[in-house]
Amino acid sequence: MSKESIRKEILHLRGELEKHNYRYYVLDDPLVSDAQYDELFQKLQRLEKEHPEFASPDSPTQRVGAAPLEKFATVRHTIPMLSLNNAHDRDEMAEFDDRIRRFLKASDPIEYMVEPKIDGLAVECVYERGRLAVGSTRGDGVNGEDITQNLKTIRALPLTLRSSKHAVPERLEVRGEVFLTRAAFQKINREREEAGEPFFANPRNAAAGSLKQLDPTITARRPLDIFCHGAGEVIGASFTTDAAFLETLSEWGLKPVPVLGVCHGVDEIFALHARTEEGREKLPYEIDGIVVKVNDLALQRRLGEIARSPRWAIAYKFKPRQATTKILDIQIQVGRTGTLTPVASLEPVGIGGVTVKSASLHNMDEIERKDIRIGDMAVVERAGDVIPYVVEVLKDRRTGTERQFVMPERCPVCGSSVYREEGEAAYRCVGLSCPAQLKESLKFFGSRGAMDIEGLGQKLIDQLVERGMVKDIADLYALTTDELAGLDRMAEKSADNLKRELERSKDAMLPSFLTALGIRHVGEATAKLLAEHFGDLKSIMGATEEQLMEVREIGPEVAKSIARFFAQEQNRRVIEKLLAADLRLKTPAKKDGKLSGRSFVLTGGLETMSRHEAQKRIEALGGRLASSVSRNTDYVVAGADPGSKLAQAKKLDVKVLDEKEFLELIGA
Ligand code: IVH
Repeated sequence: MSKESIRKEILHLRGELEKHNYRYYVLDDPLVSDAQYDELFQKLQRLEKEHPEFASPDSPTQRVGAAPLEKFATVRHTIPMLSLNNAHDRDEMAEFDDRIRRFLKASDPIEYMVEPKIDGLAVECVYERGRLAVGSTRGDGVNGEDITQNLKTIRALPLTLRSSKHAVPERLEVRGEVFLTRAAFQKINREREEAGEPFFANPRNAAAGSLKQLDPTITARRPLDIFCHGAGEVIGASFTTDAAFLETLSEWGLKPVPVLGVCHGVDEIFALHARTEEGREKLPYEIDGIVVKVNDLALQRRLGEIARSPRWAIAYKFKPRQATTKILDIQIQVGRTGTLTPVASLEPVGIGGVTVKSASLHNMDEIERKDIRIGDMAVVERAGDVIPYVVEVLKDRRTGTERQFVMPERCPVCGSSVYREEGEAAYRCVGLSCPAQLKESLKFFGSRGAMDIEGLGQKLIDQLVERGMVKDIADLYALTTDELAGLDRMAEKSADNLKRELERSKDAMLPSFLTALGIRHVGEATAKLLAEHFGDLKSIMGATEEQLMEVREIGPEVAKSIARFFAQEQNRRVIEKLLAADLRLKTPAKKDGKLSGRSFVLTGGLETMSRHEAQKRIEALGGRLASSVSRNTDYVVAGADPGSKLAQAKKLDVKVLDEKEFLELIGA
């Protein structure tokens, strides 16, 4: 190939990959399978490596893998980033509308745009001639931190703007909110908890922690998302309304904040606020109110700002999901890697229809930072599906009888000593055979996403460990049906079933097995990348840190953790024992699977397998499970009681399979 055709090919691949990012992350309507995407990506990566003269910071290959920073540089915002005033009730909301009408001497109702108030982090991204040049945090509104390399990992944020009806502007400073969906947040926390790391209190904190990582490979493994909602300086484009502005953002390939509605006057706003508050739990991300903005940008300019807030917009907040109650005691829970997590026992209190009796205190640093004491009155928050946590304690309500909590020097479960590693928040129990750790490891080993062993529940695990029948995860496979049947609450039939489940799990996919080992920093996604890159367990076990870092999205910290895990004599012994028990690990079929490139949507329940199982089967054959039906869906599998997705499939003329046809297709 000539230089020119290589250059063209590279540009073509970059364009294709950015288009697929846009379809997947902005429109939620992918055109190709993950495997096809990976293939294009790897091709581009190869060409760029062979021809470094064509490298470019805008290449999709440069979204991840930048070197860790020492510290963030400071960025001065061209136009200060303001914050919003809040309205907490109808009176305050009505006052805002009155003020605006008085100021503008308007007699007719004002037209307002209403958007959700996203509970995330404000950022600004500067596009120069269509190319993402700098991204920063809000900071104090005047100066922020340069987090460009972390923002580049957000797939919903284009590296280059698409030209459309509206030419790409000379300069666009676009502002938005970076957030994590609840699902992503829960997954991160599950992984952190399992990996013995302190977990995040809520999606917002998790998003903040991810954005402020100095090592962008860590940020890249957190599926951050962004909604754009405003502008700083714009040169080379102008708009008349906020609605038109949002629409143009989307034409440029940016993801605008969803619009809840356009309201005229406060009554419409009250109604929309109430409706939105009622439906807030159903949204995939957290919102803490609505933002009401004057739609007409000329009016916005006339209104201007006052005391660091625009006069033309307000955040109309929802009721907080908090309550005040007493901390009766602080107890310790021991996790899988020996982490000691302090948990507050609370005087039971109702928050949003649920009785809350305990709250996570995360770790000792958190207790010290918030100065939490036993006997304190505390503000407790229960946000969505998040574990309740202590926001603050009310120091002015102290009586002098409160007691400081002291981390025990010995593990409350096994009596081994407790240590804290330099630079870590967590205290850990050193006991290699601490029953609490072993129990958590077993539970994790059998969980969904790992070995998926049905029937391996808490009560059973407690007995297996307490009776000394299981001393490591490999011992599970040596259990006989008779031994199992001899346990409390185990009839012969359930013992039989469990034994069968254990046998079945021997055919696990390599990524599930890797996940099940519970290596720090190795969740489902990383396990899959490792399996695809190395192909078999032996190669992963033998890989050096450098070799591990050749895997896309694996950085130094993760590589070190994996290498350290496999270097441990005890871990190697357990893995050998597992393999000796005849575990046959299967490597996932890659690009050329039977269902390669096909996308599926499931609706309704299947009789013969769980949704999770179906997903694994589809993926094992190279296919992909999507959550919503689009024109690009290949099959909708309709089980019992199908939902609206079936109607959508019919409307879009997508092929519908019943369970029997699906089983035939996957060869089950
Ligand atoms: S418009 C004055 N729209 O809430 C700035 N902000 O203080 C105009 N936020 O820092 C912001 N969702 O980052 C706007 N739909 C939305 C928003 C939103 C969340 C953030 C914003 C700002 C904070 C309010």
